[in-house]
Amino acid sequence: MSFTQIPGDTGSSPAATPFPKVTMPALAEMKRQGKPISALTAYDYATARLVDEAGIDLVLVGDSLAMVVLGHDNTLAVTVDEMLHHTRAVRRAVRRALVVADMPFGSYHGTAAEGVANAVRFLKEAGAEAVKIEGPRVDLVRALTEAEIPVVGHLGLTPQSVHRMGGYRVQARTADTVQQLKADALAIAGAGAGAIVLEGVPREAAAAITAELAIPTIGIGAGPDCDGQILVFHDLVNLTFAPPAKFVRRYGDAGALIRSAVEHYREDVEHRVFPSDEESYHLSAPVRQALDAKPDAVPGVRVLRKA
Ligand code: KIV
Repeated sequence: MSFTQIPGDTGSSPAATPFPKVTMPALAEMKRQGKPISALTAYDYATARLVDEAGIDLVLVGDSLAMVVLGHDNTLAVTVDEMLHHTRAVRRAVRRALVVADMPFGSYHGTAAEGVANAVRFLKEAGAEAVKIEGPRVDLVRALTEAEIPVVGHLGLTPQSVHRMGGYRVQARTADTVQQLKADALAIAGAGAGAIVLEGVPREAAAAITAELAIPTIGIGAGPDCDGQILVFHDLVNLTFAPPAKFVRRYGDAGALIRSAVEHYREDVEHRVFPSDEESYHLSAPVRQALDAKPDAVPGVRVLRKA
């Protein structure tokens, strides 16, 4: 247990936030009002709590956790059970933002019934308020919507298609593929999706699709004309151990901060500078006096005295 986490402490509790809860309909209302939607990924209690308390509107438990948290080369390996585990941690932290869980590769690629059954687990067992699925899976979006499961679509560069795409490449670069992307976006919006992530597409394509849709687009590597923006938390704060993609802006250097803190701690331990006397617990004066007066009162117990 961390002694800095005091049970019942609501000092900076997100419950005290003055903001109203973000819901899927609230995102559509933000689009209507021209209010940009801020979104970030989070995968654990501490970062999700910071993200939520910073006023981010949508927290995505992204399958990018396969790479940035679990160290895999791509997003394909992460399982439903692993995604549920992280979604639960995020759920415990978030009070205001909409919590969206990514459906991992393989969990919605069979029948619609299987996809719905897996999606139900994210709402029922982990407290997600919506699921995100990649690709123009119109029938599945409809089935999820009919099952009362809010859906966020994900089009353009869909990382779960890395092998089909032959790598992570910007999509919709030709007139035909822009038209196809627009048709796909309209189709999944028509099937009930509440928002669509547009990833790795030219700004012009994202702008045209955003203008056509009644539901919000949330861009990542899709330019500034989307209704909202999302980034991977670890990219934002430099915890990725790799040069950032063109669309990433680093707002902080947690990598440097953590490295320096850990190195200082190790040095202090090695030089016996940590912990100090002030960071130690002490016996009360009467107990110390009693022990000093009768050092051998308890057989077999040796009392160490300060020199
Ligand atoms: O998994 C993820 O982090 C995502 C975002 C990049 C949109 O899908």
